[in-house]
Amino acid sequence: MDIPSLHKALEHLPIPAVHYFPEIDSTNRQALDGMVHGTSEYTLYIAETQTSGRGRSNRRWITTPGASLAFSLVIHPSPEEGQKSGLFPLASALAVCLTVESLYRIHPEIKWPNDILLGGKKWCGILVESIWRSERLMGMVAGIGANLAQDSIPPDDEVLFPATCLADHTANPINATQLLASIVEGIIHIRSELLTHRFLDDYQSRLAFLGEPVMLVGTGGDFADGVLTGITEEGCLLLKGRQGFTNAYPAGDLRLRPKKGRFSPAH
Ligand code: BTN
Repeated sequence: MDIPSLHKALEHLPIPAVHYFPEIDSTNRQALDGMVHGTSEYTLYIAETQTSGRGRSNRRWITTPGASLAFSLVIHPSPEEGQKSGLFPLASALAVCLTVESLYRIHPEIKWPNDILLGGKKWCGILVESIWRSERLMGMVAGIGANLAQDSIPPDDEVLFPATCLADHTANPINATQLLASIVEGIIHIRSELLTHRFLDDYQSRLAFLGEPVMLVGTGGDFADGVLTGITEEGCLLLKGRQGFTNAYPAGDLRLRPKKGRFSPAH
């Protein structure tokens, strides 16, 4: 990443500090460490490559130098925002979508809660991690990892969901610094609408598998299935089961339910 152009792309944003690492274990780990020591809101941690990139559900996240985008943004939610902290992963996903829609005129979908898809395949993942003291939310780190060029696409046997990269969906050249700055700007902007219906509508209009039968797999391997009908104001997923009842789920890994045959958590 070109550092002078990175600073230029970020100069209109309220970013107190940018920490750039050619190589680091994980920008999220670094940002969480910084937060424990009092790092200011919107401090940015960016890496060219990560040796222990973290994904959701304790999975690994690979960052290929020169082909990926990996960064973490420190956020200090207000007490009001803290009541709905589950919305921050969704807001980050919406910021990524709005950015690529405006820069590249393409239309990604969001696989709840925050995987971003192009052509039905994942090209961007988000891991929001929080620090709590007793009942109080001290701060959050929004970590965003994106496959930009083909070299960043992980092999099929390393992913649960088919993967793609941004370059495969646009003919325009991809400027990583512009993309990063625009996503950060998007997060800051969406935050001002976080507790409004507009935010929920904007998110929901990009939701993948709406109206389709899906399966939600929990960390313990437990699973629920039903037709995806939307999200709640807290960002929980709504599934309408076979008995006609709708349940809200705060977490899980979403899979498309096979149309025929048995459901299997491995699909
Ligand atoms: C997922 O889809 O499982 C979430 C992936 C999140 C990866 C990003 S890359 C920048 C930040 N640092 C990390 O260690 N993880 C996040």
